[in-house]
Amino acid sequence: MAQFHCRWRNVLICVCSPCICLALLFIYATIMVCIRMGSTASSWAAEKNHFVASGTFTNNSFAPLPKTFWEFHLHGDAFWNNLQQVTDRHFNPILHPNDHKRGLGKSTSDESPLRQSFSAVINLDSTKRNFEKLPQQIQEFVSHMQKRDYPTITQPDGVCGAGAKDEKEPPLLLLAIKTTELNFKNRQAIRQTWGQVGWVAGQKTNSSRGEEGGGYVRRVFLLGKENTEELGVDLSDLVQLESKRYGDIIQWDFKDTFYNLTLKDVLFWSWFSRSCGRTRFVFKGDDDVFVNTPKMITYLQEQLKKPKAYKTMKDFMVGDVIGAAMPNRVNKSKYFVPDSFYKGFYPTYAGGGGVVYSGQLTKRLHNMSKKVHLFPIDDVYVGMCMIRLKVHPVHHPAFLTFDFPGKEEQELCSYHRILLVHKRSPHQVVKLWDHMNKTQTQCWDVPLKTVGESKNKPKTL
Ligand SMILES: *[C@@H]1O[C@H](CO)[C@@H](O)[C@H](O)[C@H]1NC(C)=O
Ligand SMILES: *[C@@H]1O[C@H](CO)[C@@H](O)[C@H](O)[C@H]1NC(C)=O
Ligand SMILES: *[C@@H]1O[C@H](CO)[C@@H](O)[C@H](O)[C@H]1NC(C)=O
Ligand SMILES: *[C@@H]1O[C@H](CO)[C@@H](O)[C@H](O)[C@H]1NC(C)=O
Ligand SMILES: *[C@@H]1O[C@H](CO)[C@@H](O)[C@H](O)[C@H]1NC(C)=O
Ligand SMILES: *[C@@H]1O[C@H](CO)[C@@H](O)[C@H](O)[C@H]1NC(C)=O
Repeated sequence: MAQFHCRWRNVLICVCSPCICLALLFIYATIMVCIRMGSTASSWAAEKNHFVASGTFTNNSFAPLPKTFWEFHLHGDAFWNNLQQVTDRHFNPILHPNDHKRGLGKSTSDESPLRQSFSAVINLDSTKRNFEKLPQQIQEFVSHMQKRDYPTITQPDGVCGAGAKDEKEPPLLLLAIKTTELNFKNRQAIRQTWGQVGWVAGQKTNSSRGEEGGGYVRRVFLLGKENTEELGVDLSDLVQLESKRYGDIIQWDFKDTFYNLTLKDVLFWSWFSRSCGRTRFVFKGDDDVFVNTPKMITYLQEQLKKPKAYKTMKDFMVGDVIGAAMPNRVNKSKYFVPDSFYKGFYPTYAGGGGVVYSGQLTKRLHNMSKKVHLFPIDDVYVGMCMIRLKVHPVHHPAFLTFDFPGKEEQELCSYHRILLVHKRSPHQVVKLWDHMNKTQTQCWDVPLKTVGESKNKPKTL
């Protein structure tokens, strides 16, 4: 009996000790891996720069994120995809674990990663061969797409837009409106109506009855330079006067063309990060929209009151969200992008006329824009930066990019139910503002449009 026990003990020892050794080895390895990942993760966190490992992306249709992070096949002759792929590889912390910081901050001078990848791709034989085939306008875009450091001609005096007077708390909302030198009438209409600055009362709702909500609003217009020769007149002096009078103009020294609109976003983000640190939200829109500012203010304050708002605000963007749009391949269209320039779906983006995002997200977009090549369509470019921040814009049906459906506009309170509608002339904007005031007593408690009401939304640009 004793012998039997002894045998069993030997067997147990023989079998178990390797197991125990292996288990210890496994635990050791796990701990080491965790420590390693922890230290890398925390250094990323400190830098607040996320990296999207492309292999984790569930939908492969979205260019230019490759299927696997090590993929090195270039995307045929799609110029932008190739360019961005080389850049993404440069910043890929898995491929370059020890120097994922390179190229950020310090080396923004001549040899920034964007410039390096540009020279690498533009000098490829295949690129040289295809370049001539790109449409003239795209060629023009490509030949200037590396340059972003355009000088500022005029800007608000050291403050974050017009409306700083008597502020008792940080501004709730900065209205940043893309306009051109010529559109003086649009700017005047906006200044008198939905773009008024200072304290703006929210639109009371049932739930906020008795509570006087509101917030401080500021305003800035974003301009490039009109082509004086084509136009036949020089409007620079008028813009200077306007800037002195209203203090709400930022003008940069680049040609105000459709393909240069992306520059306005990028340069605005940079200016915002320097001058507007405490602003809660940014509305970025066109100068031909109508915005229901009081309702917008109430809506934004509700967002701030939500539980965990302090966490979610860093990702906050809301608008008319367009998912899985294909580039427009009709060569007569203003939005035409040939597949020799860009292949694949566009990332989800908020399009058409206006979008609201948080101040925190603005600063993150500013950082991310240093890693993403300019793209000729501004809204899509924002989407490209968003996807690399791993953030999605939220859709809200009260942003009407494609106007009211059917006869809804004729209802008395229709404009009280929306936050934004696109394509309104300065004259219409003034009339609408007046109409809003007159219908105030009847319409104060109508709720905003909700999901399910808007259908058949066109899916492409
Ligand atoms: C990717 O997105 C496109 C566009 O929405 C869709 O048609 C396709 O089915 C999606 N693919 C996957 C794998 O989800
Ligand atoms: C953008 O602006 C620059 C500077 O004025 C100009 O040289 C370039 O042609 C413009 N780009 C496009 C695509 O119009
Ligand atoms: C647009 O496409 C048509 C036919 O596909 C072609 O004949 C025409 O030259 C193109 N126009 C431009 C500006 O590329
Ligand atoms: C942006 O980058 C700078 C410099 O790398 C960093 O100090 C800052 O915290 C970043 N901001 C955000 C919001 O990520
Ligand atoms: C609305 O109209 C009244 C007079 O009818 C005027 O006193 C008030 O200032 C207007 N409010 C706005 C916001 O225009
Ligand atoms: C607000 O109250 C009015 C009645 O006073 C009601 O008709 C309306 O539906 C309410 N709106 C909401 C959003 O609850």
